[in-house]
Amino acid sequence: MSGYKIVAVALFGAAIWLIRLLVRERSPKLDFPVMGSASDSEFSQAYPDTPFIIPANPQLVILPMSMYMESKTHPAADVSAERNERFMGHWTRAGVQNSEIYSAIRQDLSKNLNIVLPLIQDETKYAFKELNIQSEWTSVNINSAMLRMIALISGRVFVGSPLSRSEEWLDASINYTRALSKVQDDYLGLGPVLSNIAAPFLGSVWRARGYMTKAQTWMRPLVAEILAAEKTMDGPSKAGVTGCFISWLLKYIPDNHKTATRVGEDQMIVSFAAIHTTSNAAAMAILDLASRPQYIGELREEVETVVAEEGEQHEDGNVYLGKAAFAKMKKLDSFIKESQRFNSLAFVTPAYKLLSNAIFSNGIKLSKGTRITFPHHGLAMSTTNKSFSLENNVEAGNAGPDVFDGFRYSRLRELPGLESKHQAASTGLDNLMFGHGPHACPGRFFAIYEVKNLLVELLLNYDFRLACTGNDHGQEAIRPANIAHKISNMPNPGAVLEVRARRS
Ligand code: HEM
Repeated sequence: MSGYKIVAVALFGAAIWLIRLLVRERSPKLDFPVMGSASDSEFSQAYPDTPFIIPANPQLVILPMSMYMESKTHPAADVSAERNERFMGHWTRAGVQNSEIYSAIRQDLSKNLNIVLPLIQDETKYAFKELNIQSEWTSVNINSAMLRMIALISGRVFVGSPLSRSEEWLDASINYTRALSKVQDDYLGLGPVLSNIAAPFLGSVWRARGYMTKAQTWMRPLVAEILAAEKTMDGPSKAGVTGCFISWLLKYIPDNHKTATRVGEDQMIVSFAAIHTTSNAAAMAILDLASRPQYIGELREEVETVVAEEGEQHEDGNVYLGKAAFAKMKKLDSFIKESQRFNSLAFVTPAYKLLSNAIFSNGIKLSKGTRITFPHHGLAMSTTNKSFSLENNVEAGNAGPDVFDGFRYSRLRELPGLESKHQAASTGLDNLMFGHGPHACPGRFFAIYEVKNLLVELLLNYDFRLACTGNDHGQEAIRPANIAHKISNMPNPGAVLEVRARRS
């Protein structure tokens, strides 16, 4: 074949490939009402009983809660395809389904939390010490502080110290997610077809891959050491021992993939799921507390009583709390849950993508490619939601859903039959902070312990208040407003807390 024929055949092939991509990626046509515009969060309180479209980029369909459970188990609905595509997972690995991650978190981390708790507490103390708070008021940017603290605490459990405290690890575990956020912007800007072509040349993709490569390199000595130790030990490392989380991951990885490359990938994927989510939740809770100082006294009293009853002094001289102690802190648990309800980190649940046309049992038909989601914030703020409805809360004396009521859940738990319900880590069709059903967040128990430990340390050892000129003049400080952007809602990045060593 002559040269020009080869070029022509190649161009023809490329054109066919492009057309196929265009056809495959075209947004599905949907016959539902549209709410709001692509740039606002007007839909955020909506709680529909029929589907509607949010013209976000990419377009999302909010389904009624009656379709929730069916959609989570529907064979066409894929939990990771959407994430994988938006974050260019082929290149960045975000959204890949490495099953060992779910198994290690569900089967090992969550079941060994009593043993992991001292690590969380020790690292929480270390993270506070880093702030170097003395007897005078010190200004602390709450978002940055929480991000670093949660990265330190999570890292202590996921990779162990000294690596977890190294600046390089902290940078990678925090900024892999930030790089992915830029990848997402690039994907949304370029569209699916062009981003597929451009991915290998995008700076954002290379940044994310750079963090991944570093994590894989750092895992080499740890994985080698753990695999060698496991040969002489009877199975994986014990809970609480440095490297136990790596050892738990390795347990579920097939023998021919037990490599630092795979474990490093898992570590970055876990950081992506765990760090910004938990640090935002912690920042929201602290801002809620600092702006409602009337809760501080009662929460301190609860924490101090539990520490006196359940605290155990360890060899290092510090007092540690176990699961039984945290189970007694019902007001603290309630306050955290209420803060999460009031400040949804995303107004809708994570989107699932339909990989084929689907007909649901109520007759609703959705075409292949549709991204479906549920009204997380709308549900949280609805009077018809069972947990918050006036009807269900009269006996407990709780306020309606539009009021921040820090102890609404602890009051509900005083009612007969509800003692173990409405906990911060519980999921249900009445609260979707962590999702619900087969894909509910497996890290939620760990996340809630991290937030509780931060609050316990803050309440026990520090005075704190919102920074604002009003403080010095006896006025109440106003909580800096959350930043709502389309489907997401973040704590205000400029929010500053003033903190000093506790005086009273
Ligand atoms: C306050 C902090 C957190 C929030 C608000 C949160 C929220 C969520 C939500 C809403 C989902 C999706 C559920 C669904 O698809 O229906 C999820 C999934 C997930 N989360 Fe979390 N999460 C948090 C912390 C964590 C932590 C600390 C870890 C790890 C230890 C973690 C690991 C995961 C994983 C692996 C998934 C995917 C589960 C699956 O697809 O089956 N998360 N999370």
